Amino acid sequence: VKVKQVYRTSYHFQPKKHWINDPNAPMYYKGYYHFFCQYNPKGAVWGNIVWAHSVSTDMINWKWLKPALTPSKWFDKYGCWSGSATILPGDKPVILYTGVIKENPEPGYQVQNYAIPTNYSDPYLQNWVKPNINNPILNPTQENVSSFRDPSTAWFINGYWKMLVGSRHNDRGIAYMYKSKDFVKWTRAKHPFHDKPGTGMWECPDFYPLSSPGVRNGLETYTLGKDHTKYVFKVSLDETRYDYYTIGEYDVVNERYHPDNITVDGWAGLRYDYGNLYASKTFFDPVKKRRILWGWCNESSTTEEDIAKGWAGIELIPRMVWLDPSGKQLLQWPIHELETLRGQKKNIRNMKLNKGDSMEIKGITAAQVDVDVSFTFSSLSKAEAYDRNWDKFPREDVAKDICGIKGATAQGGVGPFGILALASKNLEEYTPVFFRVFKTHVKTYKVLMCSDATLSSKNMNEYKPSFGGFVDVDLADKRLSLRSLIDHSVVESFGEGGKTVITSRVYPKLAVAGDAHLHVFNNGTETIVVEKLHAWSMKRALMN
Ligand code: FRU
Repeated sequence: VKVKQVYRTSYHFQPKKHWINDPNAPMYYKGYYHFFCQYNPKGAVWGNIVWAHSVSTDMINWKWLKPALTPSKWFDKYGCWSGSATILPGDKPVILYTGVIKENPEPGYQVQNYAIPTNYSDPYLQNWVKPNINNPILNPTQENVSSFRDPSTAWFINGYWKMLVGSRHNDRGIAYMYKSKDFVKWTRAKHPFHDKPGTGMWECPDFYPLSSPGVRNGLETYTLGKDHTKYVFKVSLDETRYDYYTIGEYDVVNERYHPDNITVDGWAGLRYDYGNLYASKTFFDPVKKRRILWGWCNESSTTEEDIAKGWAGIELIPRMVWLDPSGKQLLQWPIHELETLRGQKKNIRNMKLNKGDSMEIKGITAAQVDVDVSFTFSSLSKAEAYDRNWDKFPREDVAKDICGIKGATAQGGVGPFGILALASKNLEEYTPVFFRVFKTHVKTYKVLMCSDATLSSKNMNEYKPSFGGFVDVDLADKRLSLRSLIDHSVVESFGEGGKTVITSRVYPKLAVAGDAHLHVFNNGTETIVVEKLHAWSMKRALMN
């Protein structure tokens, strides 16, 4: 039976078929961006894990190469799991990755290995060797044989290479630090680099330096330990399946990381994405001097449906990340190379949306579009009251819960307003991405951003969560902006210039391909003005 591929994306990274998960070892080498990821060459479910490998000159159009790492040694017999690249002096990339050597205990007995290119003059780096000598470079301790994985990019300081490995001890999440003089013999530092009780297994730790607040340029991973530099520490929590980061300081002498007081570890912390993003990894792009984030976005469809369509998992559009001028959080924005896919454009200026209005944006391919809009309003006086009791719940749950309860239809004061993505003709299906403004008892404002999949599809089997996150914004200019990358089964939305990002996977039955529509709407009593709207039909990327 031939399945109609209505959910395949047209400009997000994915292989021709089969399963992918974590991004691995993104890097730049001799004119090409390299991207690897966890890949099952035999099916649309997780298993038989190898490292898929693609190259690109713009991180948007990709050429598929043969897998870089496949199980071939006793030290990776049951899988080549996640890892990272480090560029050694002399422009010599090396990969650190997790090898699974036994199936038991579940999910597998884990060691860390290294691999190097066989031919440094091949800019595609098509062949990698895993030297028998010295591999595995790290063995687990007795108690963590099945929770010891995902080595980070290494950095060099005071004569040593240092890197992190994710782990746990009972319910305590741990990032162990290892150091080495020669990249081959590694020893564990005295203390964990960072840890936190009650957070469970820490997968895919990532650690990198930040430029000053508001500066978009990224820093090399090696630029560490300099005065007043802030750092990001990220982990993927296996228990919640989301990526959390803190901003903090690196105590080089004691080899420890300390999050700032304003940010918290674990499930109440800041997230790159308040929707579907996991196992992310960053790298420094030496060409454009920026730090780029890659994140995996899994399916929200059933395993049976994934098998029927023959593929599962996409990677989100690479994002530039930098420190917000406030110093309190990161900002994220899709890499500008994506704009090369922009085609037919629709512009709207100063269009009023009164309470209950919904206006269709015509003349674009609504299933495959990049839309950027700024909304203004003249007063905050009608903002809904913020219930103080909501603050007793974890921050991320409050946002998600309010989004779920109120949706896009419950009338508000200032908002809900935003877009309806992937809407069917008569609005039987749609995915609203919107803002709601609340006023607290001390007369400050809280802005909530939601991406709600509840009504996205008539298909009852899908996972259709309503995601939400607060946007830390000063509403002095009474303006909020939203950019959404809509691509058939994914809606990736950037609120207020990348302060809050939310990604949803959706599988409409009716709102597919040419039958999808895009609207702007307002369900608040305060009139909203679409100050500026640009929507571009997106061209298809060359994809593997
Ligand atoms: C995260 C993860 C990693 C592991 C890999 C296996 O999604 O579980 O911890 O290395 O996927 O594919």
